[in-house]
Amino acid sequence: MSVTVHSVTPEFVAEVGDVDLARPLDPADLAAIRAAFTRHAVLVFPDQHFDDDSQLDFARHFGPLETTVFKARQGHKLRLHENMADVGNLDAENRILDTSDRQRLYNLGNRLWHTDSSFKRLPAYCSMLHARSIPPIGGQTEFADMRAAYDALPEATKRRIAGLVAEHSIMHSRAKLGFADFDAGEREAFKPVPQVLVRRLPDSGRLSLYIASHIGAIRGMADDEANKLVEELTAHATQRQFVHSHRWRVNDLVIWDDRCTMHRGMDFDDQRYARDMRRATVSDVAPTCEQMGMAVAAE
Ligand code: OGA
Ligand code: MN
Repeated sequence: MSVTVHSVTPEFVAEVGDVDLARPLDPADLAAIRAAFTRHAVLVFPDQHFDDDSQLDFARHFGPLETTVFKARQGHKLRLHENMADVGNLDAENRILDTSDRQRLYNLGNRLWHTDSSFKRLPAYCSMLHARSIPPIGGQTEFADMRAAYDALPEATKRRIAGLVAEHSIMHSRAKLGFADFDAGEREAFKPVPQVLVRRLPDSGRLSLYIASHIGAIRGMADDEANKLVEELTAHATQRQFVHSHRWRVNDLVIWDDRCTMHRGMDFDDQRYARDMRRATVSDVAPTCEQMGMAVAAE
């Protein structure tokens, strides 16, 4: 039996059944999954029984994998494979992270609207998050459709933001939460990088906003004006009509297109419940300015 795709809305989010992603994939199934992904930008695959290796193997069908940002930190003990982003609330011994734990405070940045790795020169194409354990209440993940949000902008705003370049750094999003505990290696690795504010997706041809809490500046614009613009665009793009909230079940795999969505994790009682969530992330093909045919100076 081949994959079944069930749309949540015609253009955003679909559920996909009748496929076991931990086993070698039929090329026709992979093609159907990729077509659904181009259209819907977020796909939910229930009941996927992955270990870390099979999750990473599935992700490799979409391109080369990223390495976790925790590797930039001197002395950080990884719980998972270095290609896996550890976004749960457990330490290397699988104990719940204490409220004052650095990794917990760092991961609180995932509660702000963002897209993954826009702070890397070569950002993410897509993310694949698997739920190994979940809290019984809270801890949903929300997704916003940045293509629909772009389409709905007033024409004057579209003209105003065309061609703008923003500076993204993970230190900017963490600073919004008062977190600044970065060592010298991290400060070097997390220097701001330029990304376009509006991008065209080569596969669907659609235009999309490309914003995140990682933005700290817009080139050629005063900081107060830039902050206000990013705040307004974020408020616009995360209105209810553009947002889907995912309530996790154990063994859900959710994959999202980082080029044209934002997401955020919702609050839960993280001192009471374990939430073991593991993310494989696929790199995009080129920096966004390059993809939009713009020559941009490094600093
Ligand atoms: C992520 C992320 C939010 C969540 O995995 O990139 O931001 O709900 N996760 O865990
Ligand atoms: Mn994320």
